[in-house]
Amino acid sequence: MTLQAIRYHRGHLEILDQLLLPDVSKFIPLHNTDEGWMAIKLMQVRGAPAIAIVGCLSLAVELTKKDFSTRKELKEFVHEKLNYLVSARPTAVNIADAAAKGKTLINQLIDNEDIELEDIKLSLIKEFENMLQADIDVNRSIGRYGAEHILKNCNNEPVMVMTHCNTGSLATAGYGTALGVIRHLHEHNKLDRVYCTETRPYNQGARLTAYELVHEKMNASLICDNMAAACMASNKIHAVIVGADRVVANGDTANKIGTYQLAIIAKYHNVPFYVACPKTTFDPNIKSGKDIHIEIRPEHEMTTLKGIKIAAAGISCWNPAFDVTPAELITGGIITEYGVFNPREIQDKFNEFDQQ
Ligand code: MRU
Repeated sequence: MTLQAIRYHRGHLEILDQLLLPDVSKFIPLHNTDEGWMAIKLMQVRGAPAIAIVGCLSLAVELTKKDFSTRKELKEFVHEKLNYLVSARPTAVNIADAAAKGKTLINQLIDNEDIELEDIKLSLIKEFENMLQADIDVNRSIGRYGAEHILKNCNNEPVMVMTHCNTGSLATAGYGTALGVIRHLHEHNKLDRVYCTETRPYNQGARLTAYELVHEKMNASLICDNMAAACMASNKIHAVIVGADRVVANGDTANKIGTYQLAIIAKYHNVPFYVACPKTTFDPNIKSGKDIHIEIRPEHEMTTLKGIKIAAAGISCWNPAFDVTPAELITGGIITEYGVFNPREIQDKFNEFDQQ
């Protein structure tokens, strides 16, 4: 049984509170977009795909319970709420992509006089509900393409891999992206060992990825972030696989802080470096990684651990949540639901799929 962190049926949404993991498994209800926004901001739910899905489902729940007297009122409400949800965390693009699609849909439906107001609302709710299963399907494709690509370069022998942050069932609707690749390897007895980084300062690796790896009984070892180079020097690591919050037109990729240094270390050790993400993580509107807005998180997430001070009082901090890995360091490729691509080709590849 893979973990399920989002529970939904029409009018009802609950998420596993990731601030309490791994010690406490507690689901909390989200009744509306205010609560959805806050859960995203506080990182009770996190990970680019999960942020998008939970944000949109919180709007679905609110829409289910609300009546509208005019088409204009419904349209303005949906636009306003989607803009609000996108503002919760700025770097992950998936929620902006979902919001743009939601706005396009409502605009089209509103303009069609043959469709009743209540049916317009229902279509939008269904559109958001479909995101749950669609994300799992996409992740399974990513898992298969990524695993096949890695194994092809390793004579189909079991592999040792390294991953960063959490990209699994807790960061998606289920299965995961980078962790989906690792899951696929494990399911096919092709995973020798996975090294997962602690992922300071918020410890998504130690708290969340380690939780998923233990849950699924994978051969796994936790390392501190500053052990990655030594780990690659001492072990035959076949691939580093990470997720992404935003891949831009030239293939540069924003992901959890620490990803960039892992890519540099991987290059030095000749270890292929892969980014695994759905097409919804691609942002063709930004040309280069230099222009990605990197979220800065509060200092206390660095200076305290579960409320206990671990840094000298009075020190000031620089706490970016993400960094940018240049395309040239993504040496293995970008693993998507359409296949594995050279980061420099990603825009052309996605254009091709859009035209099909
Ligand atoms: O700050 P977080 O925990 O939301 O950051 C998550 C990551 O950086 C993930 O690698 C990324 O969102 C991909 S999740 C499938």
